[in-house]
Amino acid sequence: MKALIVANWKMQPATFREARALFDATKKAADAARGVQVIVAPPAIFLRELSKGYRGRITFAVQNAHSATDTAHTGEISFAQARDARATYALVGHAERRHPPTGGGEIDEEVRKKVAAALAADIIPILCVGEVERTGSGEHFNFVKEQLRVGLKDVSPSNLKRVIITYEPLWTIGQPRPMDAREMHEMAIFIRKSIVESYGQAGMDIKILYGGSINEATAPDMLKNGDVKGLLVGRASADGSHVTRLLASIANA
Ligand code: PGA
Repeated sequence: MKALIVANWKMQPATFREARALFDATKKAADAARGVQVIVAPPAIFLRELSKGYRGRITFAVQNAHSATDTAHTGEISFAQARDARATYALVGHAERRHPPTGGGEIDEEVRKKVAAALAADIIPILCVGEVERTGSGEHFNFVKEQLRVGLKDVSPSNLKRVIITYEPLWTIGQPRPMDAREMHEMAIFIRKSIVESYGQAGMDIKILYGGSINEATAPDMLKNGDVKGLLVGRASADGSHVTRLLASIANA
């Protein structure tokens, strides 16, 4: 496989009509991009309608779900509901949920519960980690290690292969450029080492993705030099012509 691409549409588009058009463009691009596995994470309200009757190569994710299995959570959706709408993956702990501009985001313990709840509902969690900013002190390594420690706390060794890690530090999201691929390589080694400390050699096989300002110009370099199995893409996945160029750039690399 050339790469795993997670198309995180975030809170767009505004209408189902546009969502259908974006999905049609993504389907076409995914069909042409041999070896690239595409996961589309639309807003949950569009998921069932997009996945209905679809039999192609794309698989689906939700961008978030609630960890609880009881029902008193107005406005939330459960992992079981996500599964029923044909999500096979879920983003868990995306940086924009951990650190919303209004403050008071998801804490590590909540992320931990969501990882466990996803696995219990037969959904593959894509656990997102990453620091808010870099200071040059190296402190971000401890920060990421702690997010991994807590986030994976309830994951048994036999379930580890069902978890995907995405490193997407907040400071690289929504920027003109992604982080340097060699720095990502360093971080990927660190993430693997941290997981090996708790899980032994099985940690070496963990799938690691990178997220933050990736587009068709930067995707091939990150995949070649970043030591990652794939990419989580925001803006460049939510526009039909961008996603077409992005998937082609990876398939042709
Ligand atoms: P972006 O978003 O590609 O628009 O920077 C990335 C992300 O949400 O991780």
